[in-house]
Amino acid sequence: MRIAAHLAYENNKMLSSQVDDSGKRKSLHGHWSSRMAFILAVTGSAVGLGNIWRFPYVVGENGGGAFVLVYLACVVVIGMPVMMSEILMGRRGRRNPIATMALLGSEEGKSTRWSLVGAMGVFAGVLILSYYAVVGGWTLAYVLKSGSGAFANAGAEIVTAIRDEFLGSWITVAFYHTVFMGLTIFVVARGVERGLEQAVRFMVPALLLLMFVLLGYAIMSGYFGQGLSFLFSPDWSKLTWDTVLTAMGQAFFTLSIGMGAVMAYGAYLPEETSIPGSAAAVALSDTSIALLAGLVIFPIVFANGMDPAAGPGLVFVTLPLAFGQIPGGVFFATIFFVLLTFAAWTSAISLMEPAVAWIMERFSKSRQQAAIMVGTLIWACGFGTVLSFNVLADFKFLRGTIYDNLDHLTLNIMLPLGGLLIVFFAGWVMCRNSTADELGGAGRIYKVWRFLARIVAPVGIVFVFLKAVGLLPDFA
Ligand code: PHE
Repeated sequence: MRIAAHLAYENNKMLSSQVDDSGKRKSLHGHWSSRMAFILAVTGSAVGLGNIWRFPYVVGENGGGAFVLVYLACVVVIGMPVMMSEILMGRRGRRNPIATMALLGSEEGKSTRWSLVGAMGVFAGVLILSYYAVVGGWTLAYVLKSGSGAFANAGAEIVTAIRDEFLGSWITVAFYHTVFMGLTIFVVARGVERGLEQAVRFMVPALLLLMFVLLGYAIMSGYFGQGLSFLFSPDWSKLTWDTVLTAMGQAFFTLSIGMGAVMAYGAYLPEETSIPGSAAAVALSDTSIALLAGLVIFPIVFANGMDPAAGPGLVFVTLPLAFGQIPGGVFFATIFFVLLTFAAWTSAISLMEPAVAWIMERFSKSRQQAAIMVGTLIWACGFGTVLSFNVLADFKFLRGTIYDNLDHLTLNIMLPLGGLLIVFFAGWVMCRNSTADELGGAGRIYKVWRFLARIVAPVGIVFVFLKAVGLLPDFA
């Protein structure tokens, strides 16, 4: 439907403004394709395991409603301005994130050292993908498991046993991790474009459709009300500053911001495309899919007397369980995990792209060489996560297992820090003319963005950080 609306919009535009002020004829068809390509690429990056795998389990671990509301607030007042800043900086710099930050820094008469922000993002992408690919491997394995009918009519114990057996075998997990990483390297090595665009165009609506099928099942489960109130009625006593930091980290992660992925895609955005409009479209679809996942999963959790705080394996029990009970479940479950693997794949590609673009430019390597180098490194790092759920499950330090530490370091520290520096750069380092130029003039939306980017987002991020590490006293 969105695509049809865009088409109609572009057709009108074509009639009224095929010739612009300077009298030049514009290739409107080309622009339409690029504009859609951009929205689709960013949506493909944003919608992924973060929405369907991570969102429900962190909501479960952090007590529900209050966490969800903080997360939603973070998406609006911090996520949106950061995303708009990333896109506008990407479009202005038109290079990989490291080079873009250096270029914009010097253009604004400031330091080229801002490139370090890009470098941190590249590094964050590598670390995140090291465990993201492992979970991507889980979804891939679940395509085959669902297809084999393993979950048909299975009860909670059987489904849980299947999951535990799977995660307990490091060789199997490593195998699927390797396949998933191979698929990612393959696409990145060939260059992103076409196929990806088509895949996202089909995947997001199909994923939504299947989520609605599951929603129907969740509503019929008799526990929908309980799920709904877990998700939306806040129990503020469950909220600590550490939880708030986790909610903020989730907002960054799910929107793919704070590490330059969106900046890298913004580099290809046509001049006249509205940045606030694109950012809003992406944030809206991303958030709806996450909330929908929550609405599906929690009624199933309560209907089966499961623990919402069960951790990273949560959806790998709840969803097979639900599919096992509905007519045509084997078919639907298989399709669902295929779609989820696709969603994870398109996100994985965007996690790797900044590092690959940088290696290509910095060391004059071909795309293939860069993709293989970066991909192999990430694959090797992935073993830390592969082993976190079996052999090294009891090896804990700081935050827990290797996976727990990677997750905390990247999502709760690196992404918010990257986001802080990006939004600070766009709000304070870039001059008003530069940003207004990118955001379509100094109108009302621009003023709201600037206020959020200069004050609300930076102060909010710093405040939550300081609170979470206990550096700010409690107010009476
Ligand atoms: N947003 C993706 C998800 O929700 C993950 C991601 C994070 C992708 C950062 C790119 C950059 O699954």
